[in-house]
Amino acid sequence: MNAVMQAMRNHRSIRRFTAEPIAPETLRELIRSGQSAPSSSFIQAYSVIRVSNPEHRARIADAAGGQPWIREAAEFLVYCADLYRINHLCEQQGLGTLAGRTEHFLAASVDVALMAQNVLLAAESIGLGGVFIGGIRNDPALVSELLGLPERVYPVFGMCLGYPAQAIEVKPRLPVEVVLHEGHYQTAQVPEQVAAYDAAIRDYYQSRSSNRKVSDWSAQTAAAVQKKQREHMLAFLQARGFLKC
Ligand SMILES: Cc1cc2nc3c(=O)[nH]c(=O)nc-3n(C[C@H](O)[C@H](O)[C@H](O)COP(=O)(O)O)c2cc1C
Repeated sequence: MNAVMQAMRNHRSIRRFTAEPIAPETLRELIRSGQSAPSSSFIQAYSVIRVSNPEHRARIADAAGGQPWIREAAEFLVYCADLYRINHLCEQQGLGTLAGRTEHFLAASVDVALMAQNVLLAAESIGLGGVFIGGIRNDPALVSELLGLPERVYPVFGMCLGYPAQAIEVKPRLPVEVVLHEGHYQTAQVPEQVAAYDAAIRDYYQSRSSNRKVSDWSAQTAAAVQKKQREHMLAFLQARGFLKC
C-alpha cells in the first residue's frame, strides 16, 4: 500500500472538533483539490456554499435532526448539484433552457459527490477530519432558502470540516469478495462472508471508544431501509427543475 491508499484506508468520520479554525487559504486549496475529480462530459456541475452564519448553521443542524457538529465544526460546507450555471450559458448561446433531464440530474449529483470526497480526502491528508451530512435533505427547501439557491441547484449533502477532537477507530468495510463480482453479477449471496463481516462489525460497535452499541451490519442496514425517508425529495427536485423527463 502506498501513502495515498493508506490515507484512504485510514478514513473515519469525525464529529467532534477543536476550536482551531481552518485558514482560508487552506480551505481554498482543499476545494481546488476537490475540483480535480473527474467530471461527466467535463460539465463541472457543482457549487459549494461555505456556511459561516451561526444562525443558519443552527437552523440547518436542527433540520438535520439536531446534529451539533454542524454548529461546532470549523467549517460547514453545503455541496450542491448545479445546473444553473450551465442553463445560463445555454441561454447565452441561444440554445434555449435545460429540460430537466434525469441524465443531467445524475451527472450533476455524481460530479458533486466525486468532488466532495476528494475534498475530504485532501483534508484528511493534512490532519483535518470531517463528516458528510445527508441530514440536510430532511428539509432541502429550508436549506435552499437560507443559502439563496436558485432554480436548477439542489443541496445534495453538507460536510463538517475541522481539526479532530476525538480518536475514532476505523470502521471495517464489507469483504472485497462481496462487492467485487467476477465476469457477471453473482446473485448467490455468500452467507458465510456476510456473517463473518457481521461478527467483525458487532465487535467494532462493542469495543469502539464512543457510542458503543449492540448491532451488526445486516440488522442495521435492513432496519435502515424500512424507514420511509425524505419522501418529499421527488417533488422538491422537480420543483427545482430536475427530473422532469
Ligand atoms: C452521503 C452521506 C451522507 C451522510 N450523512 C451523515 C449525516 O447526516 N450525519 C452523520 O453523522 N454522518 C453522516 N454520514 C457518515 C456515515 O454515517 C459514515 O460515513 C458511515 O457510517 C461510515 O463510517 P466512517 O465514515 O467513519 O467510515 C454520511 C455519509 C455519506 C456518504
